[in-house]
Amino acid sequence: MILVTGGAGFIGANFVLDWLESSDESVLNIDKLTYAGNLGTLKALEHDARLVFERADICDRAAIDTLLAKHQPRAILHFAAESHVDRSIHGPADFVQTNVVGTFTLLEAARMHWIKLPEEQKQAFRFLHVSTDEVFGSLSSTDPQFAETTPYAPNSPYAATKAASDHLVRAYHHTYGLPVLTTNCSNNYGPYQFPEKLIPLMIANALAGEPLPVYGDGQNVRDWLYVGDHCSAIREVLARGDVGETYNVGGWNEKKNLDVVRTVCDLLDELRPKSSGSYRDQITYVKDRPGHDRRYAIDARKLERALGWTPAETFETGIAKTVQWYLDNQQWVDGVASGEYRKWVETNYAQRA
Ligand code: NAD
Ligand code: DAU
Repeated sequence: MILVTGGAGFIGANFVLDWLESSDESVLNIDKLTYAGNLGTLKALEHDARLVFERADICDRAAIDTLLAKHQPRAILHFAAESHVDRSIHGPADFVQTNVVGTFTLLEAARMHWIKLPEEQKQAFRFLHVSTDEVFGSLSSTDPQFAETTPYAPNSPYAATKAASDHLVRAYHHTYGLPVLTTNCSNNYGPYQFPEKLIPLMIANALAGEPLPVYGDGQNVRDWLYVGDHCSAIREVLARGDVGETYNVGGWNEKKNLDVVRTVCDLLDELRPKSSGSYRDQITYVKDRPGHDRRYAIDARKLERALGWTPAETFETGIAKTVQWYLDNQQWVDGVASGEYRKWVETNYAQRA
């Protein structure tokens, strides 16, 4: 079986769903179930014997050791993290704990597990670390895209902790020979994303008749990748990636935030028209994110050259599917919009007015 950490989160859960759709290899899902973890996303697999869920913190070495010894996974796919930049600005400690200490703990447990494997299994074992393009810092409008060789320059506490985790993963390969792979991916969007992130937040607010809070001038650029394409890239890297290598994953879809929000509004105007006016009328400009990175852009040619991976979705096809999914799955959104979520909305947006 494979072990997935953070499989109740947005990308991890999409990965588990995709994996079990196309493979009969079992999955052990280890997740702490923070505010971002939601087992409801995996409801369709509730009675599927191929999916084993264990609630555990990746910082808990004893728990991870026990689970590795019991389930003997052939690979670890490490998704678990604190993932939201704004939250890292309000409270960086959890990010250091999970992203740095948690990754370190997992690496140590993996190393001790791996070292004892028979030679053939040892050769085949993989530790795949799921990371982000934010480790590379911010680009100007004329800079070339991030390549795997771009020097690290993380700017937010989130990005700094992900960068630290990437360095630890690299060091465990270089020093101990642990067979690691790292992916650095751009902004994901799609089904089951927690509505604190730009696209699901805008859809939820638009439908609720609330303001659509665009930070700063709305001209910051992100590269957008449909989550299913991220999952297919990870499957390729796991299957055929070269040990010790890092792979950038991107959608070739650089968009300004304001354009993304307007696209969401236009799709909603078409699919769920208001009685009068456009959802665009709800757009408001709010105080910027401190240290807000101006532009991210990914050069994903290495992954294409080495493994033949390209994204299946364009931004236009992916965003249309995504908006339709949120319209069809309002119940899921209502389910995650817990008391804790409402508290976050108050903390983050009250001071931006
Ligand atoms: P998410 O916040 O939606 O989910 C994170 C999951 O990890 C949750 O289920 C949570 O309960 C779990 N978790 C958190 N702390 C844990 C701990 N200490 N022990 C065990 N489980 C814990 O995140 P996501 O958006 O799905 O991102 C997944 C990974 O992909 C992260 O490593 C993130 O850095 C990376 N990434 C995300 C994006 C993006 O656009 N969302 C892009 C590139 C890379
Ligand atoms: O680039 C990959 C990263 O993408 C991942 O590593 C992170 O885990 C993921 O959260 C995401 O980070 P961003 O900060 O880019 O995503 P977010 O959805 O928070 O914001 C996207 C852009 O939209 C960013 O420029 C800030 C802006 N924004 C965001 C929110 C929540 C707004 O203008 N208004 C908002 O209310």
